[in-house]
Amino acid sequence: MRIDIITLLPELIKSPFEASILKRGIEKGLVEVHMHDLRKYGLNRYNQVDDYQYGGGAGMVMMIEPLDKLIHELKAEREYEEVIYMTPDGETLHQGMANHLSTKKNLLIICGHYKGVDQRVRDLYVTKEISIGDYVLSGGELGAAVLCDALIRLIPGVISDETSALTDSFQDGLLAPPVYTRPADYKGHKVPEILLSGNLPAIEQWREDQAYERTKNRRPDLLKED
Ligand code: ADE
Repeated sequence: MRIDIITLLPELIKSPFEASILKRGIEKGLVEVHMHDLRKYGLNRYNQVDDYQYGGGAGMVMMIEPLDKLIHELKAEREYEEVIYMTPDGETLHQGMANHLSTKKNLLIICGHYKGVDQRVRDLYVTKEISIGDYVLSGGELGAAVLCDALIRLIPGVISDETSALTDSFQDGLLAPPVYTRPADYKGHKVPEILLSGNLPAIEQWREDQAYERTKNRRPDLLKED
């Protein structure tokens, strides 16, 4: 998979890709992530990328011209299955979306700033608009990092324990059950007996029950869907 990210703040989004699982995915050659600094495509000697909005109102808007130039350049080099715009008015990111996008070959992600991008960029190029939650961030970069993390960890081979991503919360529509590790008794706080029993079918059943209980208590909305 290759991910291209258009950003005004490359330094803000770099670090998640330089650590941990994302770094491993990149080092193993399973994913390539390329940042493109939109400022380099800015207009005039100020490298201007934003301007006042037509009709008046507070806040600047990212201009079409620098974005159009950069997107055009990138699209001339490869075909993107999705051109994603990170925005609070997009579809809220969920596990199913991450699963689906993790199977793609080339993704282009646009990070917005200020009041967002000129609507014509969305109309002309964007195929998917994604929000990471009902709150407003100061830019799309952190949202893009969240999206990339959710996608990249699903690419086969990125996580060494193949089953690990499949048993995450949400993968079967439920939250994950509680987990424990040594010691079995910490200052009187004991690990549930069943997990020490060695009875694998019973443990599996316990985990399923716990996952269901946890989902019912914390996220009943997940049980109501479809
Ligand atoms: N940009 C600003 N707020 C955002 C959000 N909640 N999700 C994605 N991109 C954003």
